[in-house]
Amino acid sequence: MAQLLWLALGVLLLASSVADAATANYTFTVQSMKINQLCNSTDIIAVNGQLPGPTIDVFEGDEVVVDVINASPYNLTIHWHGILQKLTPWADGPSMVTQCPIQPNGTYTYRFNVTGHEGTLWWHAHSSFLRATVYGPLIIRPRNGTAYPFPAPDQEVPVVLGIIIINHQQIPFLSIV
Ligand SMILES: *[C@@H]1O[C@H](CO)[C@@H](O)[C@H](O)[C@H]1NC(C)=O
Ligand SMILES: *[C@@H]1O[C@H](CO)[C@@H](O)[C@H](O)[C@H]1NC(C)=O
Ligand SMILES: *[C@@H]1O[C@H](CO)[C@@H](O)[C@H](O)[C@H]1NC(C)=O
Ligand SMILES: *[C@@H]1O[C@H](CO)[C@@H](O)[C@H](O)[C@H]1NC(C)=O
Ligand SMILES: *[C@@H]1O[C@H](CO)[C@@H](O)[C@H](O)[C@H]1NC(C)=O
Ligand SMILES: *[C@@H]1O[C@H](CO)[C@@H](O)[C@H](O)[C@H]1NC(C)=O
Repeated sequence: MAQLLWLALGVLLLASSVADAATANYTFTVQSMKINQLCNSTDIIAVNGQLPGPTIDVFEGDEVVVDVINASPYNLTIHWHGILQKLTPWADGPSMVTQCPIQPNGTYTYRFNVTGHEGTLWWHAHSSFLRATVYGPLIIRPRNGTAYPFPAPDQEVPVVLGIIIINHQQIPFLSIV
């Protein structure tokens, strides 16, 4: 009887942790934008008119849905760096490996679960040089009720590093987001 009760409790806990999982929806419009750097203005390809692109901020176990609209003149894909695409290999992103590229004016929806992952990762274009400016943070927090495997930090400061090209020169571009 006691064993049955424990089993029932276990099933309840499992059910409640699944019920907590949310779906996080994002829309990424990949397009050209102008930035000023080193007294010069240059055109880059970026997401939603911002560099770095939007931060994906979710909890372990959540489902992530990203609608990508390719408003750039290039073929592209997006890779979710560090995510083990369990049961969703088609959402991994490498161009011509797991999918055909999203063509100019094309759209594609990436849908995957961040189950069994925690940490500060990043996402980036996985086609040619676009990865230099098409990127952003991907933060997966522990589910509520589970702790970080280290003392709680006073502050979190995600830092991402990319490259912009001005006058044929590659310039490191560091952002604190
Ligand atoms: C995300 O979209 C799904 C439908 O695809 C919807 O059920 C869900 O409520 C949306 N979540 C948020 C946070 O908007
Ligand atoms: C800005 O661009 C002009 C023309 O492309 C170039 O001559 C100049 O050296 C550039 N300035 C810097 C600081 O890179
Ligand atoms: C874009 O991708 C398509 C296949 O999806 C391919 O036929 C075409 O050649 C690609 N264009 C460029 C510029 O690579
Ligand atoms: C994308 O759509 C715009 C507006 O409809 C059009 O002018 C452009 O030619 C299209 N580009 C491609 C590559 O289909
Ligand atoms: C994410 O996990 C939920 C619950 O197990 C499942 O219903 C859903 O289909 C999964 N989503 C994807 C994209 O695999
Ligand atoms: C976890 O707790 C925070 C703060 O109370 C809340 O904003 C968030 O929605 C919770 N997340 C989940 C997955 O329950």
